[in-house]
Parts: sequence; structure tokens; C-alpha cells
Amino acid sequence: MPKGLAPGEPKAGSGLLIALTGMPGSGKSSLAKLLSSQLDLEFFDLDDEICARASKSVTELFADLGEDGFRTFEFQVLQDLVGRPRIKSAIIALGGGTAVADERGFSVLRASTTVIYVWATPATLAEALSDSEERAKRPLLRGADLLSRVSQLYEQRHPRYLALSDYVLGPDLSWEELCGRLRELVISILPGPSAPASDPRVRSQA
Ligand code: S3P
Repeated sequence: MPKGLAPGEPKAGSGLLIALTGMPGSGKSSLAKLLSSQLDLEFFDLDDEICARASKSVTELFADLGEDGFRTFEFQVLQDLVGRPRIKSAIIALGGGTAVADERGFSVLRASTTVIYVWATPATLAEALSDSEERAKRPLLRGADLLSRVSQLYEQRHPRYLALSDYVLGPDLSWEELCGRLRELVISILPGPSAPASDPRVRSQA
């Protein structure tokens, strides 16, 4: 298991910043959004922040800037987001390549966030991404056979996700299992003041 913080120990400020990492199709964004509403956390999706800042889609940014330019822009948006003063705890869904396709974000994330890896293996990912709309949103998955491309990216990135993360969920948990385990994990690491008053399990840890 990757090294991590003691449970409940925020890395910066008084609010904890939790980052979900993992391959495209692993469910990071949906999970982070759901959990943020359940636990009253601030929610950020890094891709959405990038697109809002640029007023362009990820596909357009890849076309305009190339992958290297996209990574530079992604890193700047990440740095800004992570550097904001934070009173309330927050959860951020990273892009699949953030800090693993490009090393720049790695130390920023290690220093300022608690990272959770949503671990899914290539067959599961390819199934989740088989919908043409889902695939079309991801420029790196265009063209070649989906399972081969996902497997290739997974082989490169899986060790990096493990190195980046404090906690790992998976592999290949069902949606219900993922939601339940992530919720339990986040409740166990949240500092007291961010806990929702309506949840007795959380209140007892404050
Ligand atoms: C990418 C994943 C995407 C998006 C971009 C690059 C990647 O995010 O940031 O297309 O390198 O794997 P999701 O993981 O949310 O699909």
C-alpha cells in the first residue's frame, strides 16, 4: 500500500483536499460528484476547470495545443486549484493523465492532497468506454482498437497511479461497492469540522 497521511491529517490549510486518480472510464468524476453531495464537500472536476478556463473542450485543446500543450495547461489549472486557501474539505476528480502522463503535477499532488486511486483493469475500462460518446470525448483513445489502446495506457500508468496514491480502491469493484467503500474511506480521513452534521458516524469522529 502506498505511503500516506495519518487518517484525518490534512496536508495544507484546515480543509482536506482529496484527489481521485485513475484511468479514463474508471468513474472518477461520477464518484467525486456523488460523494461531494453526500458528504457536503466542495467538488471540482479538473477537466471541467480546464475547459471553463480555456472556453474550449478537451478535444479542441488537444487539437490546438497538442498533448504537451494540454499537459502544461492542465498543470497550471491544477496548481491554481490546489493552491487556493481551503477552509472546507473538497474532492477533485483528476484527469486520467494528470501527474502520471506528465510528471509536473506529481509532487504538487503528493504535497497538497490525499490521493485515492480508483483501480480498474483494461477489460472493465474498455467496457465502460465502449459508448461512442464517452470515447469521442477522449482524444487519446481515438483510432486504434479500444482494448489495445486502453491496455497500453494502463501498462504505462498503473505503477504511477500506485506511486501517486495514498489509498487504492479496487480492482474492478462494482459501482455500489465503489460508492460504499469510497464513502467509508473518505469519512475515515476527513478532519472533524468538515463532517456533515447529519451523519452520526462522522460526528463521533470529530
Ligand atoms: C486524459 C483523460 C481525460 C482528459 C484528457 C486526457 C488522459 O480525463 O483529461 O482526455 O490522458 O487519460 P478522464 O480521465 O476524465 O477521461
